[in-house]
Amino acid sequence: MASENQVNEQGYRSFKLGDFTFRRDEYFAHISYPGGTHTLSVDLFLRALMRDVAWGFFYGTVNFDSVFGTTNHYGTVDVFIGLRNEAYWKNNKHFVQTFDSNEIMKVFRNILEDWTNEGFDPFAAPEETGSAFGPKHGSNRPALERARVTAKRMVGAKGDTGLRREADGYTVNRQFADYKPEKLEIYPEKGFEDEVHAFDFFDYLTRSDVTWNPSIVSAVRNNLLCATTEEYQLPVIHGNDRVEWFLQLCDQIDWLVYDGQTGKPRARVTAKAGDICAMPADIQHQGISPKRSMLLVWENGDPSLPDLYASGKLKPYPVEF
Ligand code: PHB
Ligand code: FE
Repeated sequence: MASENQVNEQGYRSFKLGDFTFRRDEYFAHISYPGGTHTLSVDLFLRALMRDVAWGFFYGTVNFDSVFGTTNHYGTVDVFIGLRNEAYWKNNKHFVQTFDSNEIMKVFRNILEDWTNEGFDPFAAPEETGSAFGPKHGSNRPALERARVTAKRMVGAKGDTGLRREADGYTVNRQFADYKPEKLEIYPEKGFEDEVHAFDFFDYLTRSDVTWNPSIVSAVRNNLLCATTEEYQLPVIHGNDRVEWFLQLCDQIDWLVYDGQTGKPRARVTAKAGDICAMPADIQHQGISPKRSMLLVWENGDPSLPDLYASGKLKPYPVEF
């Protein structure tokens, strides 16, 4: 086994974070901790790591699989083995260490950069990217450092910068090729020609080049609407520290729902176009989307929510029927 920063036979560096050591070979990521070693397929590991990094550890818990994950405390982050898996913590086989967010971010970024080979894009659907496997060959910084297209005003309005132009490579995804953009009719009052605007949001989303990466499309105080295109499976099992809502815009996602503490299966929620559902604050969930679909996620970014749910002051579900 290579020690920190040494390059192994396959060309990969290993990394230390507290008492964790991360190393990879051609197929697997191996995470060693004082109680043993946990191993997961390196393509899954990199897809999850990409999101944990890009989302700044997200809301609550990001499980890379049923064993390894991170929990965000907004300033510090817990890195754990088995904390959301009853078989581990009931037998005292779990392990948790807390790090300053900046420290873990640095290490995770370095792993991502060193372990991502040329041609592998952790944000892309498996059908649309090269392989994560094999001995180290090249890198893929453009994919890891891709910036979101940001709008200054409503997309397409005068002075806006948020259009996804064909010329910049934002072509319609193969799975949305049958979508026919709407011809929008706009009748502004005289003098408001630059103020009143509309655009076809479905057409906009057909051009998304990433999967499972919600982007904020509207923000009103703490209410964040985040659109995303999905294909294959959400690379993380998310244990949110608050309620969130999903509006299925087209096609279908099945949500696999597990208990937040034990990891035991709780429900399977099938969301078809037009369906809306809430994910409670005490579960873990992973979505699967056999065909590329469009999803709108509604998150409440209020920083006081995690404590209110954790202390039981708020019920874990949003409505009582
Ligand atoms: C979620 O965990 O709620 C989530 C994350 C990424 C997505 C969709 C949903 O693309
Ligand atoms: Fe979630």
